[in-house]
Amino acid sequence: MTAKLANKVAIVTGAGRNIGEDVAKLLALEGAAVAVIDLDKGRADKVADDIIAAGGKAKGFVCDVGKEEDIIAAVKGIIAEWGHVDILVNNAAISDNKHMFDITTEEWNRTLAITLTGPFIFAKHAAKAMVEKGIAGAIVNVSSTSGYYGRDRAIGYTTAKGGIVNMTRSMAIQLAPHNIRVNSVVPNKIGSPVGRDTFNPDRKVVNLRNRHGLPADLAKAILFLVSDDSDFVAGTALWVDGGVSAIMPGSD
Ligand SMILES: NC(=O)c1ccc[n+]([C@@H]2O[C@H](COP(=O)([O-])OP(=O)(O)OC[C@H]3O[C@@H](n4cnc5c(N)ncnc54)[C@H](O)[C@@H]3O)[C@@H](O)[C@H]2O)c1
Repeated sequence: MTAKLANKVAIVTGAGRNIGEDVAKLLALEGAAVAVIDLDKGRADKVADDIIAAGGKAKGFVCDVGKEEDIIAAVKGIIAEWGHVDILVNNAAISDNKHMFDITTEEWNRTLAITLTGPFIFAKHAAKAMVEKGIAGAIVNVSSTSGYYGRDRAIGYTTAKGGIVNMTRSMAIQLAPHNIRVNSVVPNKIGSPVGRDTFNPDRKVVNLRNRHGLPADLAKAILFLVSDDSDFVAGTALWVDGGVSAIMPGSD
C-alpha cells in the first residue's frame, strides 16, 4: 500500500509533545516531510530526531506562533529545506485557566495571540506559499469542545477556540478557489490537559467510549482531514470527543 502523504510537506505547530507530537509522527509515517514547530527547541528537536530515527523526514523549527516574524521565518526555512508546503496543522495553543475577574489584559492578549491570531497568521503565510506554487493544500485548525461551551475556569481560551471554528469556515471559503481545503477538529480531554505533560489516569471520563482520549485518536482524525481520503470535506468541524457532546447535560 502506498503512503497517504508521499512527497508532501507538512507543518505541525506545537508538535513538541502530546497531541502535536503524535500528529507529526503519524504524518511522517505516512510519508510527509514534517516541520516540527515548537517554542521549545529541545522538544521540537527530540520529536524530529525520533521521526528521523524511525526512517522518516523531519526538522525541528523554533517558532513562537504568537509572533508574526517567527512564523514568516519558519515558513521561509521550510521552503528552503523542502521547496514547498502542502499541509498545515495549527495545533499550538495555551489556556488561561482563569475566571474573567482574575485574568489580566496581558494574559488575555497572550492567550488570544497564540491560540487564535497565531493560527490565522500561520495559515495566511502557509496558504500564500501554497498558492505561489499552485499546491492543492490542506489546513487543519485544532479547536476544542471549549470553543462551543462556556467554562468556569477559562475565558480567553474558550473565546479563542470558538473563534477557531468560525475562522475555519471563512478560510475554507476564501481558500476554496485555490484548491486548499480547511477544516477544524474538536477534541475533548485528550491525554494530559493543555499546558501540562502529565497524564492523570484518574481524570474523570464522561463519554460514550468509556476511556480516555489519546493523542493518537486526534492524529488519526487529522490524518484523514489532510489526506485525499477527505477530498469532499471542507469547512467542517470534526468532533473527536468520544461522543461526550452528544449527551444532554443532566439527562439520564
Ligand atoms: N489536551 C486536551 O485535552 C485538549 C482538549 C481539547 C483541545 N486541545 C487542543 O489540542 C491542541 C494540543 O493540545 P495539547 O494538550 O497537546 O497541548 P500541550 O500544552 O501539551 O502542548 C502544546 C505544545 O505547544 C507548544 N507551544 C506552546 N506555546 C507555543 C507557542 N507560542 N508557539 C509554538 N509552540 C508553542 C508547547 O511547547 C507544547 O510543546 C491545542 O490546540 C489544544 O487547545 C487539547
